[in-house]
Amino acid sequence: MSSNILLDLKNVSKVFGSNHVLKQIDLQIERGKFITFLGPSGCGKTTLLRSIAGFYTVDEGEIWIDGQLVNDLPPYKRGTPMVFQEYALFPHMTVFDNVAYGLDIQKRPEAEVQERVKSAMAKVKLTGLEERYPHEMSGGQQQRVAMARALVMNSPIILLDEPLSNLDAKLREEVRVELRSIQQELGLTVIYVTHDQLEALSMSDHIVVFNKGAIDQYGTPHEIYYKPRTPYVADFIGTTNFVDAIVLESANGKAVVEYGSGRTASVGIDEVVTPGEKVLLSIRPESMRINASEPGEFAVSGFVKSSMFLGEKERYFILDDNMKEWIVDAYDIGLTRFQGNVKISAADDKIHLIKISE
Ligand SMILES: Nc1ncnc2c1ncn2[C@@H]1O[C@H](COP(=O)(O)OP(=O)(O)OP(=O)(O)O)[C@@H](O)[C@H]1O
Ligand SMILES: [Mg+2]
Repeated sequence: MSSNILLDLKNVSKVFGSNHVLKQIDLQIERGKFITFLGPSGCGKTTLLRSIAGFYTVDEGEIWIDGQLVNDLPPYKRGTPMVFQEYALFPHMTVFDNVAYGLDIQKRPEAEVQERVKSAMAKVKLTGLEERYPHEMSGGQQQRVAMARALVMNSPIILLDEPLSNLDAKLREEVRVELRSIQQELGLTVIYVTHDQLEALSMSDHIVVFNKGAIDQYGTPHEIYYKPRTPYVADFIGTTNFVDAIVLESANGKAVVEYGSGRTASVGIDEVVTPGEKVLLSIRPESMRINASEPGEFAVSGFVKSSMFLGEKERYFILDDNMKEWIVDAYDIGLTRFQGNVKISAADDKIHLIKISE
């Protein structure tokens, strides 16, 4: 009778003194998915993770894990091991003893401990390194020991709090790929905390974007990137150009909007908008073109203030007649560079409409 929903958070709130750190969080997480909590420093990611793991008691709401209400259960009875930023390996213990730690606490029989540690070590491809000490392993290997330590408990969910932030950029990328493949191979449910947008986009099945203790959006990486629901999400994930606009009419999943001095565009909508409503249009730099506008298309004239060569693209900073700055990316242009007066444009289907407030 196990439902597909493994973790169910209902109206969860947490207060530290006068600081309302988690605000009525509602979230359902499916079995076998890689979920990322994404948001800037201080938005409550760690607090929510620690609340799920049982290190904090919430002030309001319910936390259900695998059909069981766990609000009053201590961490070791919740089956939600946490891998912290600093891995929290014991330096004076061998890898074997580190991995066996949780089982030893539970006083499992020796033969079972041997068996389960062996199996967990094999899953993270560390067989043979059982007698090493943490300082004799690379950062990536230590990370895998930390994973093995969580796996050995046969837990339904593994919670990872910025586990890669100690690693250098290259290793970070390697471990990222490894983590994701372990998760997929074993069908694990993982909640991963990061404030790195690229990390979130590249690893996750779903991303939860936090904004000051509340969830602004829950969706796949593509939904979050291409269909941000709020200006905050659009701005936090990647770079975008915002344009103020007013709805003129809307019907059949499309809206006609006016974006300044009688110019209009027809854009797709996912939510209800009404004529007269003020909205924001969001257009990604890679969705805009320079000096290549089609008749009737969204277009603005301006001049090139500066540009920056980034290898696969040239990033242009363009000022329009109102001195508003636009960011436009041009790809694979060889040695050509745009200068002076230009016209920038975007096809209607590259323009995303965002409601300003509910
Ligand atoms: N134990 C605590 N006591 C009091 N306030 C706390 C405690 N833990 C966190 N806070 C406060 O709660 C807010 C959220 O903190 P939290 O650690 O959850 O943020 P975070 O999103 O994990 O940030 P970061 O990306 O920097 O790790 C912050 O304002 C922080 O100061
Ligand atoms: Mg944190």
